Amino acid sequence: MARRAVRNLLAENKEAKKILAELGALLGAAASSEESQGRKKIMPITAAKTVRELAVEVPNATRVFEKLGIDYCCGGQRPLEEACASANVSVDDVLRALEQGVDAPAPDTGRDWNAAPLGELVDHIVSKHHTYVKSETPRLQALIAKVVGVHGKNHPELEQVQVAFSELANELAAHMMKEEQILFPYLKQMASGNGCGPSCFGTVRNPIRMMMMEHDGAGEKLREMRQATNNYALPADACFSYGTLFAALAEFEQDLHQHIHLENNILFPRAIALEQ
Ligand SMILES: [Fe+2]
Ligand SMILES: [Fe+2]
Repeated sequence: MARRAVRNLLAENKEAKKILAELGALLGAAASSEESQGRKKIMPITAAKTVRELAVEVPNATRVFEKLGIDYCCGGQRPLEEACASANVSVDDVLRALEQGVDAPAPDTGRDWNAAPLGELVDHIVSKHHTYVKSETPRLQALIAKVVGVHGKNHPELEQVQVAFSELANELAAHMMKEEQILFPYLKQMASGNGCGPSCFGTVRNPIRMMMMEHDGAGEKLREMRQATNNYALPADACFSYGTLFAALAEFEQDLHQHIHLENNILFPRAIALEQ
């Protein structure tokens, strides 16, 4: 009915026809301009979506999740509602925060890693996050030893942090070596379209499953340190090094969350889809 009415109106009214044509051209230009600027189309933001879906679709979502203590890397499969209940935050507040920051650039580079070539994502993970872990772990281990030496007697929880961080550093070193030497070269070869030949692990799902289990272990160590330090709250007698250590540990945690998010939520699902 409505279509017929518009057709009749256009047939009768040349001016209306002209206005509609101009409007169509304007809308078309706006759409192609968005595409050419590489702007990501944001899907509706709802509490029924999983944390992973929101972390991938909404550019600033990982910042919001990080700030509110919502696990978006290892616990990304849970619906937002469930994750909010675990973190003891209101779903409405989270949805509002996601909506408000929807136009903000993505963390790190502003790049939409869900659309970028897979090989570039792998290179980014290694050059940014693996390099960061490798350079920060010895510095942090030395800093922890120094702070434990001075404050360990009055703050026994620092030794717990020292043990947890040392285990985390060892696990991460072995984990990143497996990614850099076996899994990532295979994924890059697979993404190049030149065929990847036989692998030593059968389907790519096998090493991915192993990497994700190791990510869970790393997430557990981060939680352990956060709990031992009461969310990195500085005691009254903390010195400058104590403050530097807690700030650096919180930054290390944030970087590792982002690192695991890129692998668990973007790289690995894309690799599995590519193999299929
Ligand atoms: Fe990694
Ligand atoms: Fe990893």
